[in-house]
Amino acid sequence: MTARLLEGKVFAAKIREEAGKKAAEIKEKYGVTPGLAVIIVGENPASQVYVRNKHKACTELGFYSEGVEMPENTTREELLAEISRLNNDPKIHGILVQLPLPKALQPYESEVLEAIDPLKDVDGFHPVNVGRLVTGQKALVPCTPHGCIRMLELADIPMEGAKAVVIGRSNIVGKPMLHLLLGRNATVTICHSRTKNLAEVVKDADIVVAAVGKPRFVTADMIKPGATVIDVGINRIAPKKLVGDVDFEAVKEVAGAITPVPGGVGLLTIAMLMQNTVDAAELQLSK
Ligand code: GUN
Repeated sequence: MTARLLEGKVFAAKIREEAGKKAAEIKEKYGVTPGLAVIIVGENPASQVYVRNKHKACTELGFYSEGVEMPENTTREELLAEISRLNNDPKIHGILVQLPLPKALQPYESEVLEAIDPLKDVDGFHPVNVGRLVTGQKALVPCTPHGCIRMLELADIPMEGAKAVVIGRSNIVGKPMLHLLLGRNATVTICHSRTKNLAEVVKDADIVVAAVGKPRFVTADMIKPGATVIDVGINRIAPKKLVGDVDFEAVKEVAGAITPVPGGVGLLTIAMLMQNTVDAAELQLSK
C-alpha cells in the first residue's frame, strides 16, 4: 500500500463533532434544539436500515428526531399533507423523504421533493437549493458530495487549481460534486457513459471522484501517480461482498490518497446530514 488511506470514520467523527458544537451554539443563542424528521413510505429493508441509523445519529448528538412511517399504499395527497405539517412544525428544522419511494408514488417524486420548504431541505434536492449551489450562494447541499468535499478539506488535499475529474453525472452526486469543486477553484471535468477516451481524461486528474455505480470500473492504469481517489460507489457483487467503483487493491498502489469501500465516504453521509440539519436550523432561526 503506497496511498494514504482516507478512512470515513475519522472524518465522520470530525464532522459530527463540528455539528454537535454548532448545535450547542444554537441552543445557547436561540434556546432551540435542532430537529430532523425522516419520512419513510413502505417497507424497503435497506431504507429502514438507513432511517434507523439516521435516528441513532440524531439521538447521539442530542437532536430532536421524528421518524414518520407511512404505509406502502400512502397516496400522493397524504404524503404532501405530511410534508406540509412538518414544514409548519417549529420543532423540525430538517425534512428528509427517504428514496426510493414505492412504485405508485414514483411519478410524483419531483413534486414531493419540491413540496419541502427549501430552508428545511436537508437533502439539498429542492431546485431552489440546486440553483443556489450552482450560482455560488449559501445552499443546503446533498449530503454525500458535501461529505466528500469536507473530507478533502479536512485532509488538506489541495483543490485550488487542481484538475478534478468526476465520473458520473447524477443529480445526487456527480452534478453537485462538480459545483462544489468548482467553488474551491478546481478545474473540473465530468465524465459519463458517452465520454470518449475516458481513461485518458481520468489519467490527467489530481482528484478523481468515482460515482458511476459500476464495480471496480476505475482501474490502476487510469490513475496518475499520487492522485487523490474518492470512491462513492457501493456495489453488491455477492450477498456479503460490497465493492466500490474503484479497483481498490490495484489503485492504492498508484494513488497518493484513497477512500476504501466499505468504510469510506458512505460513513460521511449521515454525519453530513447532521451538519445540514444544524445549518438548516441556523438559516431558519437567523431569519
Ligand atoms: N436513499 C439513499 N440515499 C438517500 C439520500 O441521501 N437521501 C434520500 N432522501 N434518500 C436516500
